[in-house]
Amino acid sequence: MMLIRVMNDMTQIKPNNAVLLNQWSSKWAFILAATGAAVGLGNIWRFPYMAGSHGGSAFVVLYLIFVLILGLPIMIAEILIGRRARKNPVDALITLAKQSKRSKYWGLLGWWGALALLLVLSFYSVVSGWSIAYLIKSISGQFNGLNADQVNHVWHQFLSNPWRLLGWHTLFMALTIGVIIRGVHEGLEKATQFMMPALYLILLALVIYAACVGNFAKAARFLFDFNINTITSSVVIAAMGHAFFTLALGAGAMLTYGAYVPKNVNIAQTVFIVAALDVLVAILAGFAIFPLVFAHHLSPSAGPGLMFVALPIAFADIPGGAFVGGLFFLLLLFAAWTSSINLAEPLVITLQYRLKVKRKTAAVLVGVFAWSIGIGSLLSFNLWKDVKFFHTYTVFDLATNIPTNIILPIGGLGFALFAGWVMKKSATRSELNSKLYPAWRFLIRYIAPAGIFIVFITPFL
Ligand code: TRP
Repeated sequence: MMLIRVMNDMTQIKPNNAVLLNQWSSKWAFILAATGAAVGLGNIWRFPYMAGSHGGSAFVVLYLIFVLILGLPIMIAEILIGRRARKNPVDALITLAKQSKRSKYWGLLGWWGALALLLVLSFYSVVSGWSIAYLIKSISGQFNGLNADQVNHVWHQFLSNPWRLLGWHTLFMALTIGVIIRGVHEGLEKATQFMMPALYLILLALVIYAACVGNFAKAARFLFDFNINTITSSVVIAAMGHAFFTLALGAGAMLTYGAYVPKNVNIAQTVFIVAALDVLVAILAGFAIFPLVFAHHLSPSAGPGLMFVALPIAFADIPGGAFVGGLFFLLLLFAAWTSSINLAEPLVITLQYRLKVKRKTAAVLVGVFAWSIGIGSLLSFNLWKDVKFFHTYTVFDLATNIPTNIILPIGGLGFALFAGWVMKKSATRSELNSKLYPAWRFLIRYIAPAGIFIVFITPFL
């Protein structure tokens, strides 16, 4: 992808050089990279199991509302901040704050986002590692002819060995950092461009399969039959957190990709496309997984294993399932890879420019750090299974939920306030350059901050 080319070019910029960051080659290059960042495990793995364990439709409907009223305006805000400053998140915030004669401590918002990125990257790599393992299991025919119980057994067996999980986690982190350090060959760039549409197609095929053999009506009711009484404060918080997670918002990651956006790109329009594709993939994943969940009497609230059990049941059953399953996990791996690159890139450029180290050094530091934290997550499926905080949460639960439900939304609030109240109106208006400006400005100044605030106080209401 073009993103890779930009990164290659960036390595030529010396840390102490005030050169502005390079740009995407076209509007589509940016849309592709931003979609690559947004679409990932969040859509296909996390969305179904979060919806499943938070009452289905209540979660889904709230998530859609949050995408509209928080996701769209905040994504615009981040991209606009990035393009205005063309710097890493910390320096971008400091520069723009100074231009508005405001405190340089706005830079702390960039570090706050970096904390979220580091934590997310740590468990993201663990789960992406599972996808590599499942790619191999599928292709080698290990699911052929198994029934639902047996597929479930394979999953629990798989999680029980920490060394194996560590191996896959290490491999995936190396893949991510490898891309960041070296950049990727033409071949892989082209492959990725073709893999994203292929992922959509295979998901669609799985939905059709699930509709034929699964309990589609029950899945549709579960995901969309909305009953206001099922909303609780934890559902509201989880749905908001997931909206930020899936759109890659609240951490300065979209800001970083925004820093490479050429002036002539219409930000509002591209944001609509990215958000629409992201939601579409999540809904498709829901309709691929839940009909099978209900047909095979699995529990929708099975947690992180939901996708890794439900889909292999399908692959075990269909002719050529080993191949279809292998292809699915390969595409999932690519989706995860383009997302993890987006998680690591802001961290790397922030360290590179703030600590004035080489890009390679920064990349290795980020990789090693995130990798070490990830070990806590993978142990919580075996050796640390019984380590529970507040009697409920494993290390993995905390590593996923604290950044997602707390750090990202607070970061999002920060970016909303920054774009709405710190930056000058003339600056944001000329940057957005759209008829939608008044609507965006209203959303970003009032609705988004109030929305986030209200969600955070729901537990106390
Ligand atoms: N959006 C990705 C997904 O859904 C994850 C992701 C990529 C992300 N970049 C991010 C999450 C930045 C938070 C912040 O899988």
